[in-house]
Amino acid sequence: MAIWNLGSINADMVYSLPHLPQAGETLAAGEFAQFLGGKGANMSVAAARAGSHVCHIGAVGPEGTWARDRLMEYGVDTRHIAQIDTPTGHAIVAVDQGGENQIILFPGANRAITQDQLGQALSAASAGDILVMQNETNLQAEAARMGRDLGLQVAYAAAPFDAKAVQAVLPHIDLLFMNEVEAGQLQEATGLAPEALGVADVIITLGAKGARHIHGPSGEVQEISALPVTPLDTTGAGDTFTGYVLAGLDRNMPMAQAMAQATRAAALMVTRHGTADVIPDLKEVQDARF
Ligand code: RIB
Repeated sequence: MAIWNLGSINADMVYSLPHLPQAGETLAAGEFAQFLGGKGANMSVAAARAGSHVCHIGAVGPEGTWARDRLMEYGVDTRHIAQIDTPTGHAIVAVDQGGENQIILFPGANRAITQDQLGQALSAASAGDILVMQNETNLQAEAARMGRDLGLQVAYAAAPFDAKAVQAVLPHIDLLFMNEVEAGQLQEATGLAPEALGVADVIITLGAKGARHIHGPSGEVQEISALPVTPLDTTGAGDTFTGYVLAGLDRNMPMAQAMAQATRAAALMVTRHGTADVIPDLKEVQDARF
């Protein structure tokens, strides 16, 4: 089967700082590096490195050939990435010494994907394929609706979190990824606990405490523990987790096994500086000792 990802593609400008900047503060970075990023691109690379066939649906600007080429080098099918007149998205990522980050996003081409492009891409999908989206592109609700109509398994990673954006896709999705704070915000906005959202599977990432899976229909909960690592840079770890979970499900793994493998991938990822370019492959994930 295949994973279809309506996803963002960014140039990540990553600055290592002594601490995250305060309002009005000027701060010199110790290091600077540029990576391929975007929550969408990170998920595509993670799922491809985990062995899935991943078709990315997205857009880059006139200067974005490098990003499309790099995704292709990482094994992602890039036929449905358009090159348009709007500049490629970028992110300014500040990372402190404890690995925490702060991100400024310029969406650019990520929010200029056309309905035609989306329709053409998804017309090549087969029932049972997975479709994933995050909140960094346009057309999320349209894609979710199309995906459901085509018999795809529709997944949504609610990041960057916006309660309205999640509510727009909720009726059409089978799998929802959020962190603990986002789960609380969504519950506040909808008045519904995760098991009552009408979504078959909800995964809540809990940072150093691991991750929780809630099976909507039965309300059954299972928890996967995090692994003991010292974080250097947490940027992209959640995206890596999501990509690996989807790749596991794509290979028919039971949810707990897919989440356990994804937890190992995310644990390795937080020990590395950078985003898509440093996402571990399946062999590294399987061989890692924690
Ligand atoms: O989740 C990390 C990602 O968020 C970065 O790669 C950045 O581009 C932003 O989209």
